[in-house]
Amino acid sequence: MKLAISGKGGVGKTTLAALLAQVYADAGHQVLAADADPSPCLAGALGFPPELRQKLRPIAEMDALIEERTGAKPGTIGGFFTINPRVDDIPERFSVVYKGVRLLEMGSVDLGGSGCICPEAAMLKTLFTHLLFRPDDILILDMYAGVEHLGRATVDFVDAMLIVVEPTRRSIGTASQIGKLAQDIGLKRLWLVGNKVRNQEEGQFLLDNTPGIPVLGWLHADLGVQEADRLGIPVYAHVPALRQTAQQLADKLSQEINSANREKADA
Ligand SMILES: Nc1ncnc2c1ncn2[C@@H]1O[C@H](COP(=O)(O)OP(=O)(O)OP(=O)(O)O)[C@@H](O)[C@H]1O
Ligand SMILES: [Mg+2]
Repeated sequence: MKLAISGKGGVGKTTLAALLAQVYADAGHQVLAADADPSPCLAGALGFPPELRQKLRPIAEMDALIEERTGAKPGTIGGFFTINPRVDDIPERFSVVYKGVRLLEMGSVDLGGSGCICPEAAMLKTLFTHLLFRPDDILILDMYAGVEHLGRATVDFVDAMLIVVEPTRRSIGTASQIGKLAQDIGLKRLWLVGNKVRNQEEGQFLLDNTPGIPVLGWLHADLGVQEADRLGIPVYAHVPALRQTAQQLADKLSQEINSANREKADA
């Protein structure tokens, strides 16, 4: 499963991405967490120690390598370049693993374009395909906030998307825009995940105002999340209640995807 996590700025994309990555890794899946935010935060949310984080270099900055492998200078649009560059050594060279989660920082690769037209995107696409070859492998892509970076190329990378919303009209508005875009680009598997929900009333607000996108579930607001950040430890380890909710969300997501796959197979 290749999963993107999107939503308005600050809603909790990185928090959810880190929780789900660890849930799946602890359940025995091979997990690749890709941070697509140009100012990356996922390493911190996953609790990667500083010595490992220092080793990380964003894929997008590896200009020489991209040029060597694709035959085109990064940043070029159009022209000829290899669309299936060799990537088998990249995971080891440019990602780090901690507690079973392999982390890759993408830098500012544009996923918004109309199809995979830049060499960086070709490189990443090959990389993801190469890394995730078993059906139960998991890619979790922590996306850049908002809608501008979502485009046709996204579907080349992911097959499902979670849109994080807070119980606010604004974040639901952004989710609605993301939903429309997803529809345009043919990304059909979409779920909302509520976050920072303080009470039943706020949960109900989300259910009542969903822009026609099914709600997978929600994470409650917990002061432990900020505390974990201050202490430099993952929410997964620091807030057991949120870890459990994330486990339930992951289970529900697997069920939904399996049943969608069955429907597709029956059709
Ligand atoms: N369930 C929660 N309860 C309380 N605070 C939360 C919760 N989830 C996230 N936060 C807080 O909200 C802030 C934003 O969270 P996070 O970085 O995960 O969001 P984001 O959507 O990835 O943000 P950005 O758009 O900047 O990438 C952080 O300060 C985080 O501690
Ligand atoms: Mg983030």
